Amino acid sequence: MEKIYIFDTTLRDGEQAPGIHLNVRQKLQLAEQLDRLNVDIIEAGFPISSKSDFNSVVEISKTIKNKRIAALARAVPKDIDTAGEALKFAKYPVIHTFISSSDIHLEYQFKKTRQEALDLAETAVKLARKYTDNVEFSAMDATRSDRDFLCRMYEVAIKAGAKVLNVPDTVGYALPEEYASLIDYLIQNIKGIEDIIISVHCHNDLGLAVANSILAIQHGARQIEVAVNGIGERAGNAALEEIAMIIDTRKKDLNFYTDLNLKEIMRTSTLVRHLTGYSVAPNKPIVGKNVFTHEAGIHQDGMLKHPSTYEIMKPEDIGSQPTRLLLGKHSGRHAFIKRINELGFSLKENEVEKAFLKFKELAERKGEISDADLKAIVNEEIREIEEFFRLKYYQVINGSSIKSTATVGLEVNGNFMESAAYGDGPVDASFKAIDNITSMKVELLDYNIEAVTSGKDAIGSVKITVKYKDLEVMGSAISTDVIEASIKSYIDALNRIMIYKANQNT
Ligand code: KIV
Ligand code: ZN
Repeated sequence: MEKIYIFDTTLRDGEQAPGIHLNVRQKLQLAEQLDRLNVDIIEAGFPISSKSDFNSVVEISKTIKNKRIAALARAVPKDIDTAGEALKFAKYPVIHTFISSSDIHLEYQFKKTRQEALDLAETAVKLARKYTDNVEFSAMDATRSDRDFLCRMYEVAIKAGAKVLNVPDTVGYALPEEYASLIDYLIQNIKGIEDIIISVHCHNDLGLAVANSILAIQHGARQIEVAVNGIGERAGNAALEEIAMIIDTRKKDLNFYTDLNLKEIMRTSTLVRHLTGYSVAPNKPIVGKNVFTHEAGIHQDGMLKHPSTYEIMKPEDIGSQPTRLLLGKHSGRHAFIKRINELGFSLKENEVEKAFLKFKELAERKGEISDADLKAIVNEEIREIEEFFRLKYYQVINGSSIKSTATVGLEVNGNFMESAAYGDGPVDASFKAIDNITSMKVELLDYNIEAVTSGKDAIGSVKITVKYKDLEVMGSAISTDVIEASIKSYIDALNRIMIYKANQNT
């Protein structure tokens, strides 16, 4: 297997993404995490671009001693001197100098001839070599450059002392085949390329950054430039975590490895999210929150039988939370039973059926079902209350300037009965409508409501105490709809009274 060098540019190209401004302290924190992740090269900044970038490179160079620290410099002497100065404390300094090679850039942006660009490249690399043996040269916009001119530019850089040649797809334009054939062309046509490392730096404008980078190593590149979470100019750079996991997951086919400490991937991704304020989509490969979450019944069933059925990577390999079988409306009985067993409940078959129906009903309304939701459902199920009265439907009309009206339909001993009533608020009106149906003289002694789960769609738990003749009885119910929970708790109390009465008569 051959090693692929990981050149991390989160702190340089990544930080160039719109809206990201990291201070020296934050950059140092991130550099320390990149060190734990064990990237090979940390591109710490672009020292000429700002005082803060300069200081970041200085501080990172002082702190991180077992990694190569790179600083970016245009192919102009003052940039290179500033980069050299910023790197003076680095144990393994790298000056990364660049100039455009495409006619589009040279003509419209820099107003330079091809010869002038070659001269600048030569001078820049030679000057950089005065500061360090490790000089990387980038031909910006390489993928839109004339191939023979590009070869000439890289030859000039090699002769001047560059050790790494970077082939940026600066505008993320190249198709995979095209990029691979460019790498082939460079290897076949550049004189002196034998001892040089070819690096690839792909932007993601067409969503091809990772694919292009992987194809490039299959064609001879040995270094990939990446940014954590794929941040960077415009659509960003090739995402470090995707490159890392492709190389690891498909190592037998690719025959490459990296020295990355994969278990630090999740921690690094989270840190970048926090520091930059750039969130990660739930379905973002490798580090999105849904990547190790399964909701569909058929997938959950497969996962319970063997994780290899639907997972090609293990969450623990990247330091992520264990696989989640999310209980929601797509979940099946199998996953539901497993979770309630894990929560310590063992239900009889008919209880499982009823609890499962309630779970599905709640999931339909709520989406994701938490453990607290499940506990509430199961607790309600195992109370085993015989139902003389069962709620069929209810409807309330309520508002700030009208009297509340409730209509309630109940099944009473198998017969359907309904009634309507006014009241002081929707709960009072509903209770009165129920009283009309049952004709029982019941006094409400206590009414208590609390949320048993969190969020706006939390389950509300209502507990009431009622008095019937000399008997005080409690009733309870849960629902995401607090009126429904109130009505059901009242019916629960009435059913308990009926059970008591029935027992008295026997
Ligand atoms: O995208 C690019 O071309 C760059 C260079 C500075 C390497 O970031
Ligand atoms: Zn770039």
